[in-house]
Order: sequence, then structure tokens, then C-alpha cells
Amino acid sequence: MHDRFDLSGRTALVTGGTRGLGNAMARGLAEAGADVVITGRKQEGCDAAAAELAELTGRNVVGIACHMGEWAEIDTLLACANEAVGGLDILVNNAGINPVFMPIADITESYLDKLLAVNFKGPVRLAQLVGAQMIERGGGSIINIVTIGAYNGGPGVGPYSASKAALLNMTRVMAWEWAQHKVRVNAVAPGPFDTDMMRGAEAAIPGFNEGAAAATLQKRVADPDEIIGMIVYLASDASTFVTGGDFKVAGGMLT
Ligand SMILES: NC(=O)c1ccc[n+]([C@@H]2O[C@H](COP(=O)([O-])OP(=O)(O)OC[C@H]3O[C@@H](n4cnc5c(N)ncnc54)[C@H](OP(=O)(O)O)[C@@H]3O)[C@@H](O)[C@H]2O)c1
Repeated sequence: MHDRFDLSGRTALVTGGTRGLGNAMARGLAEAGADVVITGRKQEGCDAAAAELAELTGRNVVGIACHMGEWAEIDTLLACANEAVGGLDILVNNAGINPVFMPIADITESYLDKLLAVNFKGPVRLAQLVGAQMIERGGGSIINIVTIGAYNGGPGVGPYSASKAALLNMTRVMAWEWAQHKVRVNAVAPGPFDTDMMRGAEAAIPGFNEGAAAATLQKRVADPDEIIGMIVYLASDASTFVTGGDFKVAGGMLT
């Protein structure tokens, strides 16, 4: 039977693939047959994670350091990714940050600039470059990782949720502009997953995880592997008529 989820012969770039959700996504894409480039801020971390993923999956997995907040580095990233695996079929804009909880009253210009640079401007620049390449190559799939908070911000997470809301909005525009070129663009909005980001939130606000779990219908925080199905679906031919969408992977958490 034809396997619509098979990614053999495809290439993918997952930003922030050194740990957390991005690492699980990269593993899932490689297990489905893709060769994968992952990124992080430090080359050693990228190399270590890539070697581990290659060992686990038997695919070509390459790590390339790139700070997503540095617009100029993103051109270099794409050039290196092309060299490592050839042109890209799949882009997952996963890298994102929420370093601290910051009430509106405390927001500084530099903090807002930093959040927008990493969570919004970088992903848009990368999608712009990869999208152009996908158009030339005859199509592709771009997946922008946002958050349930992109639909409704909450106290202390204004800059984070607003940066993701901007990316969610831009996802729809990308899908609209590029549909004619067979480039599909979708957003995935995770609920609470057990990663360093959630552990940081728990350290800053004891009880945060319990509260996040309680807000889901399943009353739990998810394992990073539970994001994989949605990513492979959106990356693959199983979703050829799916574009401009946003998909919650959040245990029924309401927005
Ligand atoms: N975990 C959740 O519950 C949750 C919920 C909703 C949305 N999300 C979203 O899901 C995505 C992944 O989250 P996560 O929980 O897996 O986060 P995480 O555990 O903190 O991992 C973040 C990843 O992004 C990389 N990264 C951080 N800053 C970067 C930068 N400036 N440039 C390039 N790479 C950078 C990190 O790599 P290095 O440290 O090696 O640089 C790491 O691979 C994020 O966009 C986040 O907003 C997560």
C-alpha cells in the first residue's frame, strides 16, 4: 500500500532541533525517511544532537549553528543546509524562546526586540528564503510552531504570546501567497509539553506545570514525542490539500 506519510528522498530543516520538541520532530521526520538539518545556537550542541539522531534513525542528520534572532545568519544557514542535504522540501520553524515571565509594566524595548527577533522575524526571514527556493523546486511544506497562547495571551507572557500570534497571522499570509506555487504553510500550536521551556516556567512559577495540565481536557503535560504525528502529517503527502491551517496539539486545551 502506498504510504502517504513516507518521507523517503525528502529533506527537512528543523530549527531548534538540539532538544525539546524540535529534537522529537527531527527524529520523527528522519524515522519517516527524510534527511534532516537541525539547528541550535552552538555548533557543538548541534553536532552532538545530529550525531545522536543519525545513529537512532540511520538517516543523514546534520547540525548547523544559527541564532534565529540574527537576520544575516539565516542566509548562511540556508546555504549550509543546501550543501548538507540539497534543496529543502520541509521547513519546521520550531526554535522559540520565553526566557522570563514579564508583566506589561516591566517590558523594555530590548526585551520586546529580542522576543520578536527570535520568535517572529527570524522564522519569517527563514520562511521567505526557503519559500522562494521551494517555489523554484516546485513545492514544499512549511510548518510554523506557535503556541496555544497565540490565540489568547495571559499574564506575564505578553511578549511571547504576541510574537507567536504575529507568526500565526503571517502563516496564513504565506499560505495565501504561495498556494499557487504548491508551497503549503501551516501552523501548529502546542499545549504543555515536558521540555526545558516548561521546566523553566515551573522553576520561575512553582505550580505552573500543574496549572497547565489542569487547563487541558486530558489533565496532563505531554511527552515531546506526542508532537511527531502532526508534524509528519503536515510535512508529508498525507496533507496535500491542507494549507493555511492552524492545528492545536494540546490535549483539548481551550483557547
Ligand atoms: N514546551 C511547551 O510546552 C511549548 C508549548 C507551546 C509552544 N512551544 C513552542 O515550541 C517550540 C519548542 O519549544 P521547546 O519547549 O522544545 O523549547 P526548549 O526545550 O527550550 O528548546 C528550544 C530549542 O530552540 C533552540 N533555540 C533557543 N534559542 C534559539 C535561538 N536564539 N536561535 C536558534 N535556536 C534557538 C534551542 O537550542 P540551543 O539551546 O541548542 O540553542 C532548543 O533546541 C518553541 O517555539 C516554543 O515556543 C512549546
